[in-house]
Amino acid sequence: MKNTATRQLFPYEADDSHRKPLSRSGNRLHGIIAEALDRDGVVILPPSSVEETLGIATAIGMFFDTIMLDPWYNKGFGGVQPDYMAYFLNVIRQSGKLADHVYYWGFPEIVAPFVERIPEPLKLTCWLTWYYKNNPSVIRGWRSSQNACLHLSRPGATLHPERFLNEKQLALKEQGKLRYMPGPTSVLEDKSWDVVEEPLLVGFVGRKEQTGHPSQKPQKVYDHLLQMTMSEKGVLLDPMAGSGTAGAVARHRGFRAILCDRSEEYTQLMEKRLGIGRLSIAREVAALLEL
Ligand SMILES: C[S@@+](CC[C@H](N)C(=O)[O-])C[C@H]1O[C@@H](n2cnc3c(N)ncnc32)[C@H](O)[C@@H]1O
Repeated sequence: MKNTATRQLFPYEADDSHRKPLSRSGNRLHGIIAEALDRDGVVILPPSSVEETLGIATAIGMFFDTIMLDPWYNKGFGGVQPDYMAYFLNVIRQSGKLADHVYYWGFPEIVAPFVERIPEPLKLTCWLTWYYKNNPSVIRGWRSSQNACLHLSRPGATLHPERFLNEKQLALKEQGKLRYMPGPTSVLEDKSWDVVEEPLLVGFVGRKEQTGHPSQKPQKVYDHLLQMTMSEKGVLLDPMAGSGTAGAVARHRGFRAILCDRSEEYTQLMEKRLGIGRLSIAREVAALLEL
């Protein structure tokens, strides 16, 4: 019974028929995570690298509506990794096998070269911009006021622009008079929602939301993204979850989410923010990785 339920929760992709059936330890871990998702909606995994989290997800046959990838930005805080591009292209490639939609965040100049190298079967759905005016940086020269986010999707992945309709459009839709569904980049009246304007969480701005994580995204920014790509019962994976913003938004909207970060400190931050403890799955993960 449990097996059927978890299969439905994380169905295999049609073109993934080459995947091996789950091992006993894979099945067991799958069951534990599925049960926790049913119970709590949002699940925190013990600290782990993004590669390991994606490896585990693959080994236990998960499939997600959305994977959020918000790494350190390869400039400034978090340092510079010389092989960043090759490394992160691999992370995106792996994510594209596990989710219909992948969001990849960074500064525009870091993200831009990826546009020409998006791993199949993902395609660029939209270049999104988060625009903020309140960066306190006092460096001489240009002051950063934007982050980029590549919205990548598998062929046929579902988008939910209907969630952004204004009242007039909704009324037309109900009367069957909405001639076309407004596209993802122009869904709200005269606003262009591929640019999301929200202040940075800094100083007194967003005080109540701030957790102390040095690079926390505002919930409102993630809210737009998740509404566009999550189905009602869908599951989100954020394997570099930091303070758990994606989990907070998922919970608010009634979506389910699995969060992980390699840092013990930030895992504790997430636990505090979301009021849930991490799953104890060390034994099951060890058994899985031994195979
Ligand atoms: C930009 S922050 C994410 C912030 C998050 N979106 C939020 O709103 O709080 C990047 C996070 O990635 C984590 N991270 C960096 N490299 C990682 C890796 N290789 N595996 C897993 N997590 C990693 C860091 O610990 C950090 O918390």
